[in-house]
Amino acid sequence: MSFLITGGAGYIGAHVVRSMTLAGERAVVLDDLSTGDAARVPDGVPLVVGSTLDRALLDRTIAEHGITGVVHLAAKKQVGESVEQPLRYYRENVHGLETLLGAVVAGGVRSFVFSSSAAVYGMPDTDLVTEDTPCVPLSPYGETKLAGEWLVRATGRAHGLATACLRYFNVAGAATPELADTGVFNLVPMVFEKLTAGEAPLVFGDDYPTPDGTCVRDYIHVEDLAEAHLVAARRLAEPGRPGDLTVNIGRGEGVSVHEMVGLIADTTGRTDLAPRITARRPGDPARVVASAELIAKELGWQARRDVPEMVRSAWDGWCLHHPEAHRD
Ligand code: WQD
Repeated sequence: MSFLITGGAGYIGAHVVRSMTLAGERAVVLDDLSTGDAARVPDGVPLVVGSTLDRALLDRTIAEHGITGVVHLAAKKQVGESVEQPLRYYRENVHGLETLLGAVVAGGVRSFVFSSSAAVYGMPDTDLVTEDTPCVPLSPYGETKLAGEWLVRATGRAHGLATACLRYFNVAGAATPELADTGVFNLVPMVFEKLTAGEAPLVFGDDYPTPDGTCVRDYIHVEDLAEAHLVAARRLAEPGRPGDLTVNIGRGEGVSVHEMVGLIADTTGRTDLAPRITARRPGDPARVVASAELIAKELGWQARRDVPEMVRSAWDGWCLHHPEAHRD
């Protein structure tokens, strides 16, 4: 097997490359380096710099590297930005995917793993989100992920391509400090940034209908998430493989913003900076927690790393990239 990992120089993609190569699989990375970093791609893994919108490059890459499976992560992923630039999100996330699938079918690739998101569910009105929970995305970003799933499944059915759509919940942590997320777009790095500046972390609303009033999410360690890709990619390559698979990737455990901020304070030793409650952020659902049963049943996969380990590894990565975060 030879896997093409699109977006393999990004935060999550590089973890997928790491898990797959550690397990002995051959990987080739395609990344336009718009947010990815070539330094994340390990020695010995070919890096093709380019876009999923470039059909000729895709055809060439698949042929030259004898690609038999694709793991597609390359995409734009900021919810707020997608509201301001929907055309860009549809072009890169949907047209880019459609172009890639065209090359996959023409090149005889047999399996396709797609990076989807819990954003497809929007504001789910349920304690545990199962894969049957209605998909009502609230942002162009979530829409492009849902449309992407449709495209992937339809192409799989029409062309005999084995497919898996993996719906990520809230990803955090790092396998090594070097691979840590360098973007500051989610709760964990946003709290780190405040603490590093000597400022109070912000809590966006504490009047939600949850036990402590703050939003509840399902945080998943990026290394666990990466291993789920490996398991899915291998399963799709087996004889008698499932035609298509759509699964949540989470821990099935809710953690509130208050709990997460408290854990970060304990981990970093910055217990002096009490969080400041601000207004709700528009569009935030009160609770989004995965049912992780289907993936356990279908792939025998379950998360192994807990939330303290996520925070600790994320902080080690943050300190590598922000030496000023060390106080002593
Ligand atoms: C988590 C909670 C915030 C920062 C988003 C996307 C989702 C996926 C993951 C891409 C919320 C609160 C945050 C802060 C806070 N993205 N918060 N203070 O919104 O659950 O999910 O990222 O695939 O599609 O929607 O994640 O980390 O932004 O926020 O109180 O400084 O933390 O309001 O309740 P979210 P998040």
